[in-house]
Amino acid sequence: VTRSTSYSTLPAVLLLGPSGSGKTALTTLFERGPYLSSSESEKPSLQDAVPATHTSQTPQTIELSISTDDTSTTSYKTDLDALGAPHKKFLLIDTPGHAKLRNAALSRLIDSKYSLNPSTTSKSTTTDNNKLKAVIFLVDAAGLSEDTSGSDTSLASTASYLYDALLTLQKRATSAKGSKAPPSIPVLIAANKLDLFTALPAALVKSNLEAELGRIRAARSKGLLDSGVGVDDDLAGGGGDEESEWLGEYGSEKFSFKQLMEFDIEVDVIGGNIVGDGPGADKWWRWIAEKI
Ligand code: GTP
Ligand code: MG
Repeated sequence: VTRSTSYSTLPAVLLLGPSGSGKTALTTLFERGPYLSSSESEKPSLQDAVPATHTSQTPQTIELSISTDDTSTTSYKTDLDALGAPHKKFLLIDTPGHAKLRNAALSRLIDSKYSLNPSTTSKSTTTDNNKLKAVIFLVDAAGLSEDTSGSDTSLASTASYLYDALLTLQKRATSAKGSKAPPSIPVLIAANKLDLFTALPAALVKSNLEAELGRIRAARSKGLLDSGVGVDDDLAGGGGDEESEWLGEYGSEKFSFKQLMEFDIEVDVIGGNIVGDGPGADKWWRWIAEKI
């Protein structure tokens, strides 16, 4: 069995998020997890677990094992092989967050079978897409709290990427008209860097993102209307461009993640951190265990 064949049969979790949010750091932490001491007495600091990272330019896929029996207490540090515990293998796909490389990452959300734009889906990505089980969208909870306008991890930049990711999933759900809907892909918004005192708690990360996504939705809709796109379709009662570019409940004033349930997209927001002291990354790991 070659490596590429085994890849195509494993469930995959796709890591998205702006540059600097911690995707590569998280990938490294999960990869090293089982090698870290799990005994409370000689717990290494998380700092040791993650070496310095730099901006990614290419995606990277790693294979991990996760517990299948006790998902409520499992940790990424548990060495499942050593314990002989029941486990499942899955792929974690780390993607570059740079604005110019985001489209390639987003194309992995589109299931080949329900492809929106087949020409953009290369052979290697469809292999992963068929098994895509969940998306983790990492955000820098400290970046959202300050006026970091202009930076990749600012509220505006983060929400704009998140809007595109969620809209792609929404289009994926609505594209299969008449036929069987594609399997739903749940989204975890991981509010990272909670070790920093400037970081916002997960609840505020959630409400700030919802407010910003609502602003983006209104602005993009206005842009489409001003350009005249979609107006005629709307009058004709058909699903025009404006409606298909609208995230969540069409015409609603405020955006909330709950509106995506209509499209079978479940969104959770959970806080954590990869380096430093804080709640750590186990809650994210358990979320994966539940979804995979
Ligand atoms: P791109 O590859 O450019 O898309 O970025 P990325 O999302 O892969 O970010 P990366 O993992 O390289 O992390 C960016 C920086 O954030 C690094 O300096 C990390 O050490 C730091 N970082 C990641 N997680 C945490 C965290 O929980 N707390 C703190 N304080 N820093 C973190
Ligand atoms: Mg990276």
